[in-house]
Formats: sequence, structure tokens, C-alpha cells
Amino acid sequence: MHLHHIVFTLLMYIHILASSAATDTILAGETLAVNDKLVSKNGRHALGFFGTNSSKSYGRTTTWYLGIWFNTVPKFTSAWVANRDKPVNNTNSLELTFSQDGNLVIQNRSTKSIIWSTQENITTNSTTAVLLSSGNLILTNSSNSSEVLWQSFDHPMDTFFPGEKLGWDKVTGLNRRFVSWKNSIDPAAGGYRYELDPGTGVNQLLLVALNSSTPYWSSGVWNGKYFTPIPEMTGRHAISTKFVDNDQEKYFTYNLLDEYMDPNMLTRHMIGVSGQIKTFTWVKGSQDWVLMNAQPKAQCDVYAVCGPFTICTDNDFPHCICMEGFTITSPKNWELEDRADGCSRNTQLDCIRNISTMHTTDLFYCEPCVRLPQDAQKIEPTRSSSECTQICLNNCSCTAYSFGNSGCSVWHNELLNIRQLDCSDTTNSNGETLCLRLSAKDVQSLKYNRRGIDIGVVTGTCICALGLFALILLLMIWTNKKNSSGRILNGSAGCNGIIAFRYNDLQHATKKFTHKLGAGSFGSVFKGFINESNAIAVKRLDGAYQGEKQFRAEVSSIGAVQHINLVKLVGFCCEDAKRLLVYEYMSNHSLDVHLFRSNSTVLNWAARYQIALGVARGLAYLHDSCRDNIIHCDIKPENILLDASFLPKIADFGMAKLLGRDFSRVLTTMRGTVGYLAPEWLTGVAITPKVDVYSYGMVLLEIISGRRNTSARFSSNGNIDVYFPVHAAHKLLEGDVGSLVDHMLHDDVNLDEAELACKVACWCIQDDEFDRPTMAEVVQILEGVVEIRMAPVPRLLQAMFGSSYSTFS
Ligand SMILES: *[C@@H]1O[C@H](CO)[C@@H](O)[C@H](O)[C@H]1NC(C)=O
Ligand SMILES: *[C@@H]1O[C@H](CO)[C@@H](O)[C@H](O)[C@H]1NC(C)=O
Ligand SMILES: *[C@@H]1O[C@H](CO)[C@@H](O)[C@H](O)[C@H]1NC(C)=O
Ligand SMILES: *[C@@H]1O[C@H](CO)[C@@H](O)[C@H](O)[C@H]1NC(C)=O
Ligand SMILES: *[C@@H]1O[C@H](CO)[C@@H](O)[C@H](O)[C@H]1NC(C)=O
Ligand SMILES: *[C@@H]1O[C@H](CO)[C@@H](O)[C@H](O)[C@H]1NC(C)=O
Ligand SMILES: *[C@@H]1O[C@H](CO)[C@@H](O)[C@H](O)[C@H]1NC(C)=O
Ligand SMILES: *[C@@H]1O[C@H](CO)[C@@H](O)[C@H](O)[C@H]1NC(C)=O
Ligand SMILES: *[C@@H]1O[C@H](CO)[C@@H](O)[C@H](O)[C@H]1NC(C)=O
Ligand SMILES: *[C@@H]1O[C@H](CO)[C@@H](O)[C@H](O)[C@H]1NC(C)=O
Repeated sequence: MHLHHIVFTLLMYIHILASSAATDTILAGETLAVNDKLVSKNGRHALGFFGTNSSKSYGRTTTWYLGIWFNTVPKFTSAWVANRDKPVNNTNSLELTFSQDGNLVIQNRSTKSIIWSTQENITTNSTTAVLLSSGNLILTNSSNSSEVLWQSFDHPMDTFFPGEKLGWDKVTGLNRRFVSWKNSIDPAAGGYRYELDPGTGVNQLLLVALNSSTPYWSSGVWNGKYFTPIPEMTGRHAISTKFVDNDQEKYFTYNLLDEYMDPNMLTRHMIGVSGQIKTFTWVKGSQDWVLMNAQPKAQCDVYAVCGPFTICTDNDFPHCICMEGFTITSPKNWELEDRADGCSRNTQLDCIRNISTMHTTDLFYCEPCVRLPQDAQKIEPTRSSSECTQICLNNCSCTAYSFGNSGCSVWHNELLNIRQLDCSDTTNSNGETLCLRLSAKDVQSLKYNRRGIDIGVVTGTCICALGLFALILLLMIWTNKKNSSGRILNGSAGCNGIIAFRYNDLQHATKKFTHKLGAGSFGSVFKGFINESNAIAVKRLDGAYQGEKQFRAEVSSIGAVQHINLVKLVGFCCEDAKRLLVYEYMSNHSLDVHLFRSNSTVLNWAARYQIALGVARGLAYLHDSCRDNIIHCDIKPENILLDASFLPKIADFGMAKLLGRDFSRVLTTMRGTVGYLAPEWLTGVAITPKVDVYSYGMVLLEIISGRRNTSARFSSNGNIDVYFPVHAAHKLLEGDVGSLVDHMLHDDVNLDEAELACKVACWCIQDDEFDRPTMAEVVQILEGVVEIRMAPVPRLLQAMFGSSYSTFS
């Protein structure tokens, strides 16, 4: 994601020529020159020409479009494009004007050739164009401005403006639907549509892929107030929604209510290149769009999102990887999020090269624990796995087979929609093994490179149960043992005992960065050893950061911050553009592993309470006791590490200092969803330690419940998804804390402590930072020194995510 962001910034080089003082209207006989723009009365939207410059590596020159963009946002963000499929090569003599027949046209002034036109049947040649505050560009009869002859809202692109209609006009047959961009810089029609279900009497929204007739997502049926599976949409206080079905038309629309929000708050609801509908909010603090909601929630639910011969993984970035023996077909398109080409074979199959022979040398490589591709052809009856193998081998167009509980399945030609399941999660044990046909050469090369997965013709049993994760871990430990070379690192101790490492030494210590422990928001973390036995964790920071002098200064000030509940910074490395941080190694990984992975040992209640208290102490120290009053800004279970005795230690503090202005951008773009982010991040007011208090409250709820707050599986009141923190606040008020506690504890819980923890959590996640306690107060409350009142339900969360409560209770 981060990498993608960099690539995107490099490639997307937008030229906006528009400059001069602006009006919102073009009168009959007037023109809009290539460097003029219209600005809506409220200033929010602008219409003009813009160019996207796709860089040399993309092999194209600048192309020009007429479009509408968000005018108050410094990062150019287009919302509508007139000529999405007909870009213009240059701007010589380009203008927007009215043609003889009254239509609005993009034309070449010198040749009078028309590049794009509103193409309406207009009987007057005197028309006016106006860009409305809603973002709608309308063409009206000059002598009667309420007579709209054409409007951009009738020709949607990828962005669904508030007040726009999604659906059709029953009289004219006009169907308004949204179509994604081709890639992240090309507005041409892409592979996904967002539309109203064409079925009669079914009032729901659908997402449909170009190449598939069955939708991959549906909103659920409109129940008069909202679409049943996505009650977030109601957020009745934040947006109002409307579904209209009468003689003339049938459509869905929404509008924003500013009651709870900053009146300047901008939201953007659109269908993304990779097929999800996304809602963003502009965050002043980070100068970027922050994702508030995406549907379908899982990226891999989108039809063919990674293209043919790929594996999609939901909880990983990047989501898409090629299957073994395949490489990315078009890296340039791939970087731009256009993965329709998917991956291609490294070596052609033998049976294609040599049709004459029946005895192909092709082999199978088996990928365990995946969701199988669709459109399987069932072969019945098949008694054994080897029979299934042989059937596939005998037909050259057969690219894969699977032999499992449901017998033998084979696939021909392209494989789509294969999904990696989480092998360590026993609830997903429905994963199956897919055996992929590869040339013998590719299988050979895998043999020497690969992890311990069965290669060649194997029986299709799933090794998930063994835990692929554990296997890799064992391998890592084993290679570590074998290889630790016992070098004494050539570091020089700084004034705080922080060691300045040479890059080469860290490379050796980590075996060339092979033992990856994880990937965090700011870079990847690798395990290494110094002096043979001392395990360290080396974080390699991504991206461009501050100069050496400042980096050293910040490192030494972070190194001075030491507390039993903070991960100790051992050293750093700063060579050329490379920036690395060296920490003590925590043998029990991070908190999320113990809370959310069902194959790890369940933390008992006492351990959980001690972890909650330890984290609170660590944060209180960061906020108050140490010299600099550090705000962590990124508290989440992944950043809470556990040492050998399960003592919690907070990782990644001080990153805001190291990354400077880049920090909030990284933070918000990496995040994906709002999860642990306090509402202040969205409104752009100054950030205080109370943002950590908010995140801490969210983490505390997860410690109590043993589940992710954002997890989609949770439901209450029938089948409606409720955001867990809202549910928890209600249950707390009802006095039913027992139902909130992790079921894995089997009621072996101190309910007084659980209630106290719930109260603290609910106070921490209040909308108004002044309602939240300080971390020092949290420590005192959890220690039982200070009493605490009952907490109210957080209003903003309730408004945004708690609809079933506002509707039914
Ligand atoms: C974009 O185009 C401009 C000229 O229009 C050129 O000067 C610039 O180098 C281009 N940028 C990239 C990244 O190719
Ligand atoms: C733009 O340039 C391409 C290649 O240079 C050419 O094929 C295409 O016809 C041009 N389009 C227009 C509208 O001039
Ligand atoms: C308009 O026509 C002139 C003359 O043929 C040509 O030089 C120029 O490139 C054209 N402009 C556009 C935007 O196609
Ligand atoms: C425009 O009007 C003419 C004459 O009334 C009619 O034949 C034609 O179908 C109309 N075209 C469109 C696109 O409405
Ligand atoms: C434009 O409005 C004028 C005045 O209302 C009316 O006479 C004329 O017919 C209208 N033109 C069209 C094409 O509707
Ligand atoms: C509209 O048409 C009339 C008659 O054809 C013509 O006299 C007038 O100049 C035209 N107006 C515009 C703005 O093109
Ligand atoms: C202007 O147009 C509107 C909508 O078409 C129509 O209802 C109204 O009567 C028109 N006014 C005049 C003066 O023609
Ligand atoms: C749709 O299928 C066609 C033919 O199989 C293919 O060329 C095209 O790339 C596919 N488009 C997408 C968006 O997957
Ligand atoms: C095709 O197979 C035959 C028989 O196995 C072999 O003699 C021949 O060399 C093969 N040709 C190629 C191009 O691999
Ligand atoms: C291979 O399978 C395809 C798809 O089922 C079928 O159309 C074709 O006839 C088969 N070829 C042979 C040689 O069996």
C-alpha cells in the first residue's frame, strides 16, 4: 500500500491549467478557454481542463480531459470527466463552447472539429452552462433557466455526488450507473460497475464486473430506511438516504447532514479501480483522503480483482501475488492498480509446446489452504487423488485440479478468484488445496527455492491443520540456529547507550533481511542476532525521511525514553538514504496474535488485565513523565509487544518525530479503515495525547472481547451488523458485561474488573477529547485507586455505526 502510494505519486502528475478568476456560468456565445475554470458558488467544485501525465515508464504522453474536481482540496481529485474515453493529445486551440445546435462541446477552435458533445436534441441555439454547488454541471435554456436540457448527474463516472441519482428514468430509459476508472491515472471505463439491480421489484444496489454476469456484491434489499446488510449507511444523523420508485423513475440517492460534522467536511463516495465502493473524508491534518468505509469489506470479494493466475490475500499488502511459476504480465498496469492482465507462465506448458506426445512432462504444484476458483468442472466418479491428477494431465487445456471432500474438480484455461485463507485461523479450515499445472522446469526451480510445501504430484490433503504459520516459524528458528555467525558488531555507543550500527553489520545480523517478523506502518521488521545469542528486531524504515543530523538527534532523544512498558531502542543505522532502528526482541510477538488467532494460547483474564494496565502505564509515561511528552499516534494491538513473561511493551513510539510531516500521511493512508483513529484526526484540529486515549479505549475493548472491533462477523438483534464498541457501550449500560467478555475464557473472569475495564474503555472512546480521561487517570482507575462513573454511549460512533440501536431500541 505504501509502495503503491509512492508509485502513484510519482506517476500521477496532474496539470491544471485553470487559473483566472472564476464564475460558475458560461453564457450563450461564450467559451471556456483551456486555462480557465468554472467554480461553483460554494467554491467546492471546479470545472476545467486537466492533464494526466503518465510518466515515461508508462510509455504515454500527457492526455487531456475536461472534468470536475474538488476545488478546496490541495491534492487534485477529479470527480467527473466529460471525455473519459476520448482524451485529447494536446491543448492547441482546445476550448469548451456551444455548438450551432446549442449543445455544449469540446472543440478544436482552428479546425472546428468536435471532440465531445452533450449530444442532446435541443431546439434552441441559445443555451447556458452552470456548475452548481452540488457539483452538477447543467445545460439550460438561456431564456428559461429552470429548463434543464442536459446535466452531468445524468452521466455519472466513478464518483457518486450527494444528491445525484443512482438508477433510471422509466420514461426515457436513461440508466445512471457508476463505472470505475481503468487504472489509477486513466479515467477510461474500467472493469467494475455500481448500479441499481435491474431485476423488477428488487430494490438493491449491485457491484458487477465487466466480464461476469453475477454481481460480486449486493447492498441487500432496501427496507424503507436503509439497505439491510449495511446499516452504516443509515448513520441517520450523518447522512440521509432515499429510495424512490414511482411511475417516472426508480433511484437511490443520499445527502449529507452537517449536524455532527465540520461544515467544511468533504466526503467522497466512489467506485475504486479495484472494484470496491469507498467513502473517503478529507482530513486537513494529514492533507489526504482517509478511507471511512469500503464495500465489499474484503478486497478479495471483488470479482477477479487480481486477474488470472493470482492469489488474493485479504489481510496482506499487497493483496495480489502471482501463483507459483507465474510472473506479472504487465508490471506498469499492475502498479496502476489495473490487474486485468494478471500473471503469465514463466515457462510454457510442455503439452502446448509438443502436442505430438501423450506423455507430457508437466507437473503439479499444490497450493494449500485456498478458496478454489469458481466454474469448476466436477469429474465423477473419481476414487483417488491420482486418478484426478491423471484426468487433468490428459487434457492440455486443464490448468488445475483439486481433490477433496467433494471429489475431483478440474479447471480449464484461466484461473480466477483464488483466495488465500488464514491457515492459522481454525474457523477458516474450509480451505482446500489447489494443484496447479506447471512445466517441469518451473517446478524444478521451485524445489530449490521454496518453503516446505509438497511439490509435484501429491495427494490433495490440506496441511492447514498443521499450521503453515508454525511451520515457517520452525524453519526460521532452525535456520537461525544453524547460521548465526557470532560476529561482534562494529557499532559505536552513543551518549544514551544507543549503538550506531553499520548497514553491513545489520545485513549480516539479519541474514540479509530474510527473517521477516512483520510489516508495520512505517517499514518491515526483521529478526536478527548480535553476538550470537542476543536477539534483536531490526526495523527498516520505508520512504524518504529527514537528514542524517536530525535523524540522529531524534533517535538519541527516543533512546532516552525508557520504561518497563516501552520497547527499548538498542540502536540505529543511518547511511545514505537508509534508516534503520534496532530494538530488543520480544519473544511473544504482538498482542493481536494472542487475541485474534484462534490457534494461539488464550490469554487468561488476569494476564489481560495486567496487559491493559501495563499499556496504560507505558502511555502515561510517554504522555506525562518523560521529557518530551510524546504522543504515540498509532496505538493498536500490533504495536503492543509481549516479552517472555507476557509483560506488555509499546512499540513504535516517537515515529512522529522521526517522520516529521510525512507521519500523518503514512498513518492515514496505511490505515485502511478508521478503526483506532480518534475523530480529531478527521476534523483537522490539533492532535493531543487524547488521540492515544481513544485508541487505547478501542484496544481495551479488543482485549476484553478477544475480537476485532471491526470484525464483520459480529451481529446482534437478528442478523444486523453492529459496530462492537457501540454494542459494548449499550451492554455496559444494561449491566450485561458478561456477554462482552471473550467466550474463550469460558466465564473464568473477574466480572468486577471486566466492568471496570469496560467503563474505562467507553470513557476513552468518547467523541469529545475533554470527556476522555488522561492515561494517568486510566492507570489509577484500573489500579482501583480512583472511582469512575458509568459512561454514556459515544454519540458519533452511535450515529455512524449504531443504526440498529437507533432504529430498534
Ligand atoms: C510531465 O509533463 C511535463 C510536460 O508537460 C514534463 O515537463 C514533465 O517532465 C512530465 N513529468 C513526468 C513525470 O514525466
Ligand atoms: C493522439 O495521439 C495518438 C498517437 O500519437 C493517435 O493515435 C491519436 O489518434 C491521437 N488522438 C487525437 C484525438 O488526436
Ligand atoms: C487542432 O487543430 C490544429 C490544426 O489541425 C492542430 O495543430 C491541433 O493539434 C489541434 N488541437 C487539438 C487539441 O487536437
Ligand atoms: C432527436 O429528434 C429527432 C426529431 O424529433 C428524432 O428523430 C431523434 O430520434 C431524436 N434523437 C434523440 C437522441 O433523441
Ligand atoms: C426556451 O425558453 C423559451 C422561453 O421560456 C421558450 O419560448 C422556448 O421554447 C424554450 N426553448 C426550448 C428549446 O425549450
Ligand atoms: C441562433 O440562430 C439564429 C438563427 O439561426 C442566429 O441568427 C443566431 O445568431 C444564433 N445564435 C447563436 C448564439 O448561435
Ligand atoms: C420554464 O421551464 C420550466 C421547466 O421546463 C417550465 O415548467 C416553465 O413553465 C418554463 N417557464 C416559461 C416562462 O416558459
Ligand atoms: C474481459 O474479458 C476479455 C476477454 O476474455 C479480456 O480481454 C478483458 O481483459 C477482460 N476485462 C477485464 C476487465 O477483466
Ligand atoms: C516432442 O516429443 C517427442 C516425443 O517425446 C520428442 O521426440 C520431441 O523432441 C518433442 N519436441 C519438442 C519440441 O519438445
Ligand atoms: C479438454 O477439456 C475441454 C473442456 O472440458 C474439452 O472441451 C476438450 O474436448 C477436452 N479435450 C480432450 C482432448 O479431451
